[in-house]
Amino acid sequence: MASVLDNKRVAFVTGATSGLGLAISRSLLDIGYIVYGAGRRQQPPDLPQDFIYVPTDVALDESVNKSRDFVLSQESHIDLLVCAAGFGISGSIEDTSIDLAKAQFDVNFFGTARVVCAFLPSMRQHGRGRIIIVGSIAGKIGMPFQAYYSASKFALEGFVESLRYEVRRFNIEACIVEPGDFKTGFTGSRQKIMTPESPYYDQFERVIGVQEHDEINGLDPAKAGKKIAGLAVSKHLPTRLTIGPFFERFAVWIRRLIPDAWFEVFYRMYYRL
Ligand SMILES: NC(=O)c1ccc[n+]([C@@H]2O[C@H](COP(=O)([O-])OP(=O)(O)OC[C@H]3O[C@@H](n4cnc5c(N)ncnc54)[C@H](OP(=O)(O)O)[C@@H]3O)[C@@H](O)[C@H]2O)c1
Repeated sequence: MASVLDNKRVAFVTGATSGLGLAISRSLLDIGYIVYGAGRRQQPPDLPQDFIYVPTDVALDESVNKSRDFVLSQESHIDLLVCAAGFGISGSIEDTSIDLAKAQFDVNFFGTARVVCAFLPSMRQHGRGRIIIVGSIAGKIGMPFQAYYSASKFALEGFVESLRYEVRRFNIEACIVEPGDFKTGFTGSRQKIMTPESPYYDQFERVIGVQEHDEINGLDPAKAGKKIAGLAVSKHLPTRLTIGPFFERFAVWIRRLIPDAWFEVFYRMYYRL
């Protein structure tokens, strides 16, 4: 994609060390953004100098605030915030401790909230800004054996809807992108909470097998990167945008139209539950 920006714009992207966040960063660089990319591991290789790696753990207030202070010591403001940091836990609700569930929320939900709150004051002062949150199709449809992951993404849906009302008067726009399956490091990073002794073991193995098969055969994250970079420079941000394989986008659409009981039959057949 050729550069579409007359002047350099500045983005802060979390989850920029892998998968969707890295792809989004690459696409933003392609269209002329300076990208401050956040993550806990080292700087990803082969990126131009307009990518500045900022070591950040979104689960820690001090780390997020330190990164924000660094970025705003280098730039007068940021134009775009993309929150893509996240991971997944899987297992039955009964087998998952509340501590693990909290750790899931601390990254996917509170991690996003932390980063948004860290940058909102400077966006307000600047008089404009855009926030793109990476949710999930799992935030529109509860995934079997991924209850806490789904719940963290459902929570982001409400968060973004509320945020839009609050920041509109400051000329700040917000949007949630709901990806379906893209082939990233997500599958390998997933924490599985399951033992052969669990009464859910056989169902879990079958369901997670289908889910991981779909993820491994998911779309190229570069496609998501281009789509989200395009969104960043669009006239206005929509409230939400579902991206991913056609069948998964269709499932989100049909979920809204048919009764819950019918949708459950379809999902039970798909996962053989
Ligand atoms: N791939 C899919 O099919 C899919 C579908 C729907 C939604 N999503 C969402 O897309 C987002 C990106 O996931 P991905 O698929 O790109 O997976 P990924 O390749 O595993 O990347 C996850 C990113 O999140 C970062 N991260 C995780 N925990 C963090 C923490 N505590 N602090 C800072 N950064 C953290 C990781 O960086 P470090 O390890 O360097 O910290 C990494 O850059 C997630 O929110 C995920 O829920 C993915």
